Amino acid sequence: MKTKPLPLAFYTPSPVCTFINIFHIMARIQADFLVLGSGIAGLTFAIKAAKIHPQRRILVLTKTNKGESNTRYAQGGVAAVWNHEKDTYEKHVADTLDAGDGLCDTEIVKIVVEEGPQRVQEIIEWGARFDKEKNSDEYDLAREGGHSEHRILHYKDLTGWEIQRTLMEEARRYPNIEVLEHYFALDLITQHHLGRMVIRVTPGIECYGCYALNKENGEIDTIVSRATIVCTGGAGQVYKSTTNPVIASGDGIAMAYRAKARVSNMEFVQFHPTSLYNPAGENPSFLVSEAVRGLGAILKTAEGEEFMHLYDERLSLAPRDIVARAIDSEMKKRGTDCMYLDCRHLDKAEFSAHFPTIYEKCLSLGIDPMKDLIPVVPACHYLCGGIHVDARGASSIKRLYAAGECSSTGLHGANRLASNSLLEAMVFAHRICADTQDKLEEWPLRDDIPDWNAEGTTDPKEMVLITQSIKELKEIMSYYVGIVRSNVRLKRALDRLYLLYQETEDLYKTTSISPQLMELRNLITIAYLITRSASHRRESRGLHYTTDYPDKLPFLENSVL
Ligand code: FAD
Ligand code: SIN
Repeated sequence: MKTKPLPLAFYTPSPVCTFINIFHIMARIQADFLVLGSGIAGLTFAIKAAKIHPQRRILVLTKTNKGESNTRYAQGGVAAVWNHEKDTYEKHVADTLDAGDGLCDTEIVKIVVEEGPQRVQEIIEWGARFDKEKNSDEYDLAREGGHSEHRILHYKDLTGWEIQRTLMEEARRYPNIEVLEHYFALDLITQHHLGRMVIRVTPGIECYGCYALNKENGEIDTIVSRATIVCTGGAGQVYKSTTNPVIASGDGIAMAYRAKARVSNMEFVQFHPTSLYNPAGENPSFLVSEAVRGLGAILKTAEGEEFMHLYDERLSLAPRDIVARAIDSEMKKRGTDCMYLDCRHLDKAEFSAHFPTIYEKCLSLGIDPMKDLIPVVPACHYLCGGIHVDARGASSIKRLYAAGECSSTGLHGANRLASNSLLEAMVFAHRICADTQDKLEEWPLRDDIPDWNAEGTTDPKEMVLITQSIKELKEIMSYYVGIVRSNVRLKRALDRLYLLYQETEDLYKTTSISPQLMELRNLITIAYLITRSASHRRESRGLHYTTDYPDKLPFLENSVL
């Protein structure tokens, strides 16, 4: 498969300040492994590294509390070939490739599918309780859209919560893992901070750690590491309506891009077809798991008519991109705000046992899933692209790795198969651990990194400039770079984004660092990367659909920025 570098456009990431800060006393912290993020990718890596290197210091930074992550909200579960009588690796590989619409890296798909069950077994050994069939020791395997077999291990509709709990408990057992909560990673440290000119094609860029804001005392610390693993999750907050919690602002991808790492396939943003429609508006939007359709729920119009047969023979269980576009198209055709999920024919006891959270949430909004249709609407859910990594999880920058939703491994291609991301995060956390095992001595801790410079900056006088820009950004992305795109919409988005970029960079140069300002800056970078990659893809493939080029091109290309 060819990869084509996209031309650089207006965006030139601004340099990070590199002089001594005279206003704050800043800590200098050293770690053998610096892990950014405490979701499934970050904690799995930390646990594995701690086991192999009991004498090494593993520092995990997390920008709020350690339990808050996309991981924590995962509902459906983890896809893995478990029942070898019915299921095979070949089938899981074929389903993943089919969803990915030609752009998956087949070798990576095989790696994840074949190594995945061992990683699932490990997390079970660490204490994860996946549901079992009634009166049986067999796991209750669910099915979701795009899967040809029942292969999703789950814990009710709270799989992510159970995984996060398990990992936090396991991590606590290792004294060499230290989790710093409310620590916001700001920028990765490279030769650029030692005064060297670094451009995107510079060979041998290396990462020496990161600058991070200690949110509790407002100081910006210099954290120096031998290896840095970015596990900062997704970027759903770039859209108005998303299932992702507010932490999902694409910080790691934006930081890596500023550090000149390669970033790929950013146009492939997955919209989940069924977030709960709440006219009052909620951030994040509440997810109605695809597993609900796996149990037999059917998509319908307000009049109770089915419509999925007009779009795909797999009906309500077609892959996500197809279902989300079908719902979007029906809503536009009818001028409605939502479509509906019919669960009324399902068994109440079974429904509430499998989906207690969804059941309770619906009831709290006055919707009884056993009597009423559930109103649903697509919402931004998952970013398939991210920091480009190889099969070892290594980025294009030396000593810098990425795992989980912030990475682009080649597994998902143009569209992720449901429940493949938790699996991918565990497999790549393991692979990074293996790759770094014997390298730490080759990567000394630098002692010549300058502290962060906040000279000339003052506290923000008008927070409205930041909050309003975030709102504008979400509007731009939702209206012009959503499920359906076109040349004119993308051009309009880029023009608007440029203005926001300039205003925000001006603010950044004069205003002291706050998480809100950094998130805005990072979200603008993410928006730019999505829109720029979308503009360059002159075809419709997987999650990228444009009315100007509705067909697929006869050749395959990843987008690399
Ligand atoms: P996360 O779990 O998001 O963790 C990111 C971590 O990075 C957090 O700790 C965050 O605080 C930290 N962080 C971010 N920025 C910074 C910064 N600047 N400084 C310091 N720390 C930072 N996938 C499945 O496979 N199956 C499912 O059933 C499923 N259901 C889902 C349901 C919902 C509602 C959502 C939102 C996603 C779902 N997904 C599912 C996707 C899956 O949950 C995520 O892709 C996966 O959990 C991502 O894990 P991660 O470790 O990469 O990132
Ligand atoms: C869901 O439960 O529908 C989400 C599964 C996923 O995103 O993989």
